[in-house]
Parts: sequence; C-alpha cells; structure tokens
Amino acid sequence: MALVFEQLFDPESSTYTYLLGDDEAKVAALIDPVAEQVERDLARVAAHGLKLVHTIETHMHADHVTGGAALTERTGSRPVVHRDSPVTCDAVRLGQGDRFRLGALELEVLETPGHTPESLSFRLGDRVFTGDALLIGAVGRTDFQGGDPGALYDSIHARLFTLPDATRVFPGHDYKGRASTTIGEEKLHNARIAGKTRDEFIAIMNHLGLPPPKKLDVALEANLACGRPPQAH
Ligand code: FE2
Repeated sequence: MALVFEQLFDPESSTYTYLLGDDEAKVAALIDPVAEQVERDLARVAAHGLKLVHTIETHMHADHVTGGAALTERTGSRPVVHRDSPVTCDAVRLGQGDRFRLGALELEVLETPGHTPESLSFRLGDRVFTGDALLIGAVGRTDFQGGDPGALYDSIHARLFTLPDATRVFPGHDYKGRASTTIGEEKLHNARIAGKTRDEFIAIMNHLGLPPPKKLDVALEANLACGRPPQAH
C-alpha cells in the first residue's frame, strides 16, 4: 500500500485541505475541505482513482464554510468530528486516543482544545494535522467561539510537543506561503508559545487585538450543519 497525500490550498481563506488515501483499498479522506473547492477536491480524489469515504473536521471553522455537506451529497462521504461537536449532521464522533482507520492507514485522534473546545489533531505516522491548534510560528486565536488560551497552552504541551521532534506538522492555515513545519522547530521558535510560561502565553493571546473573521456568522451557521448553506434546509 502506498500513501496518497496531497496538500491543497484555498487562497481566499488561506486554508489547507489535506487529501489522504490508501491506493490499494482505493479509499480517501479530506481533512478540512472548503466549500468553494469541492470540485477541485473531487477532481484530485478521482485523479488517484479513489473513493471519498470521509471528510474530517479539525474543528468548527469560523472563517470558511466546510465542504463536508456538499461532499456527502456528491459521494456519500461521512464527516468525522469531535465527540462533543455541536454539529447536527450525521457524523462519526471521536475523542482522545481513538484510532480511526482509512483502508490500511490509521489516524490517532488527539484532543487539542483551546482554539475551540472541540479542536482535534490527527497523527498519521510521522505527520500530525493540527488544525488551528498549532500553526507555523503561531497558534490559532482564542478570543471567540469558546477559545481558551490556558487550555491551548496545555493541549500544545501535553499532546503536540510530546510527539517526536521530527514529526512533520501540517496546519489548518498559513498566511505566508509556508507548507509545513516540525514539532522540534515549533518548540524552539514558535513566536507565541516557545519558551513562554503559561501565564505569559495567556497574556499574549488575550492581547492580540485581531479583527473578527469576515465570514464569522455565515460560516458558523452553515458549519453547524456540516457546511449546508442555511437556504438549502
Ligand atoms: Fe479555526
């Protein structure tokens, strides 16, 4: 079995979507698909001769609408979400330490709350998909949507910085054109958390002064239904 892996990018929201597949079992999953990129994503899955069986949400996104519902309609794929996710669609619900199989691939579920309460990371061998818990040189904001900087500090230290230093980190976003980083690099150089005490980190996160995301209201309402636009109910 060879792993199929592609990192895809949505320029409007600077979101990374990841295509994972098993080329022998002919199955695929998309981590954090974006509604506007559904055709592109389906074309990539088809190019590898795979069947999309799951869409995986690292968390409830506030900055874009997930492609989950549209992909379910087109392919029958089933969303995968946190066990306590507020989404109302039919979904596989997972929590800390669960193992999730995709053909011969096995993803380990890591609960990494802080950016949102229901944020998950997924480890696949020497890769980890961190959503917005850990970004390249940064971390996801914690100033709305139930964000909690203390919880994020604890998640990153207990669940991500305990992975081997060579683990490759694939984040949910990057705004500067970078593709990936490593746990070792972020432990040493992450501008928000490296070398900071928990209290220092909380103070930094509480004073970022960021404007709210442009699509906040629309995105949250649609994403509660796994990305189904409100008018389609
Ligand atoms: Fe986010």
